[in-house]
Amino acid sequence: MAQKMLLKGRVVSFRGSPFDGEPTDAARLDEAVLIKDGHIAEIGAADSLIRAHPEAEVKDHGDHLIMAGFVDPHVHFPQTAMIASWGKRLIDWLNTYTFPEEMKFGDIDYATEVANRYLDLTTAHGTTTMCSFCTIHPESVDAFFSAAQQRGQRVVAGKTCMDRNAPDGLCDTAQTAYDQSAALLEKWHGIDRLSYAITPRFSPTSTPEQLEAMGALWAEHPHCLMQTHLSEQTDEIEWVKSLFPDARDYLDTYEKFGLLGQNGVYGHVIHLEDRERHRLREMDAALVHCPTSNTFIGSGLFDMNGLMSEGHRIGLATDTGGGSSFSMLRTMASAYEIGQLRGHPLHPAQLLWLGTVGSARVLRMDARIGNIAPGMEADLVVLDLASTPAIAQREAHANDIWEAVFPTIMMGDDRAISEVWIGGHKAV
Ligand code: GUN
Ligand code: ZN
Repeated sequence: MAQKMLLKGRVVSFRGSPFDGEPTDAARLDEAVLIKDGHIAEIGAADSLIRAHPEAEVKDHGDHLIMAGFVDPHVHFPQTAMIASWGKRLIDWLNTYTFPEEMKFGDIDYATEVANRYLDLTTAHGTTTMCSFCTIHPESVDAFFSAAQQRGQRVVAGKTCMDRNAPDGLCDTAQTAYDQSAALLEKWHGIDRLSYAITPRFSPTSTPEQLEAMGALWAEHPHCLMQTHLSEQTDEIEWVKSLFPDARDYLDTYEKFGLLGQNGVYGHVIHLEDRERHRLREMDAALVHCPTSNTFIGSGLFDMNGLMSEGHRIGLATDTGGGSSFSMLRTMASAYEIGQLRGHPLHPAQLLWLGTVGSARVLRMDARIGNIAPGMEADLVVLDLASTPAIAQREAHANDIWEAVFPTIMMGDDRAISEVWIGGHKAV
């Protein structure tokens, strides 16, 4: 590969949030992006960049859209093989489909095979960074980080800790959860592009002692992310309240054990009480909208408009395999549909922003990934906005870039992903 690479196309980046004011005002359109040493070197007009860098190899993508690679801040890579499992709501779905599959990840060979399959699939769908739950087995964490490291990907992951209400083979203890998480954090956090997230699954599957141990570990490593689930399904919330009768609400089962903080990443957050909304905002904790999961498992409709106007930091995620897709485009479509059901259609600029900048902000990585600007890491996706006949015939009479990209958001899949760049190297 040439030392400098110039990609020409319709380059979309963001200089602000499309949730503040007119959505399109936040976006910037350019003609080319220059990649050097794994990073974005420059962005701007094609002619002037070519003149300034005559030695750069030029790749002309015509009217394809070039944007930051998608960032998926809440996934379960071990659920790859059981995605689209029929007919259960959350707790039955976990017991029937999820836990039996997760039992297999003590086998490093199986864990490695699925980690690579998951990363192959997500790369083909244009996702360049994700934050994954692993399983209780340290092998699952080693497998995922090793696979991502070989591909030069920026990923976040952690050992999913559980010490009750799960099969014996999927339970650790407060002490082993602490010890194994600490050892994995030491081994992987900050190596190449890898980051460790402290990962209690959710309060029903942890004893107070285990939540306390996780809180203690986070207090020792406050710069690490802590990821978990919060307020996903009404039955789940009732169960949490019966397991923690002294807690003020679901969030309090984390808060009282030191598991609420500015580097906390809370998935789903659908049925929040007023105190929870207020405390999450006050702590600047991150919220993750998982729309295909929330409809697939029948959980409910995330309040994007209300939470955004309260100033929450929000990202968009697949939640594979509770979510029914590996595609962030499909996930944006689902977020759009849920917005419609709540009376607030999301603008295409808002959808693209949520799946890149918004999700990178959730992971506290927005200075490095999720956007195109000089100095940022060169994780990019090139979208063909006419990837199928159905999409092409709608895109053909679009009046602007947003009308041109919306059919791909609503109807696109991996066929729309023309190229993927990870750390300045072409991956697809
Ligand atoms: N709550 C606890 N574990 C899970 C999980 O694996 N998926 C989803 N969607 N919700 C959860
Ligand atoms: Zn999840």
